Amino acid sequence: SLFLILAVIAAYMLGAVPFGLLLSRALSKRDPREHGSGNIGATNAMRTGGKLVGLLTLLADIAKSLIPVSIAVAMELSEAWIGAIAAASFIGHIFPVYLKFKGGKGVATMLGAMLPWQPLATLIGAVIWGILIWRTRYVSLASIAGALALPLLVWMMGGSQPALIVSILFASLVTVKHASNISRLLDGTESTIGEDRKASP
Ligand code: G3P
Repeated sequence: SLFLILAVIAAYMLGAVPFGLLLSRALSKRDPREHGSGNIGATNAMRTGGKLVGLLTLLADIAKSLIPVSIAVAMELSEAWIGAIAAASFIGHIFPVYLKFKGGKGVATMLGAMLPWQPLATLIGAVIWGILIWRTRYVSLASIAGALALPLLVWMMGGSQPALIVSILFASLVTVKHASNISRLLDGTESTIGEDRKASP
């Protein structure tokens, strides 16, 4: 229906809001695209503007997908429409119309989109992510591993076919968006959390 199509477009428009950029500019007067990895996500917002800016970016980038998907779940929309709204938020973050489609890596927005829809799988994935950050200090490594674990977890928890397809889409795009991190991890130049020693995005 028209309502559902508009809901998907709204989810995209909200997902595309670059909170990392807006918060860094507002609170630190710096542009995360010109610091650290050059990414607009929470990890690099922290490098650019400090812990508070990083934390607020993380929460805002989670909320912008968590809110529309929570509404979709509460309205008991079909799995396919919930998936369309979840995917639209995520695509918005990665390919934002406001930034000439040059957006973030999708980790926080993936978390917000999957949590209300596949809570158990997402919580387990988030715990894996947290443990890997804690043990390795590499946010990127933890993000890739968490994203790749997600479809497996959704499948193990008996998620629907749309949930499986959307989680595979998330895992693929998150991994592709981390290409520069993967090269840095392989040659040993990746920054650990809180450290800021790389320049090129
Ligand atoms: O938030 C994305 C994270 O996994 C990596 O960010 O800035 O280190 O490329 P960054």
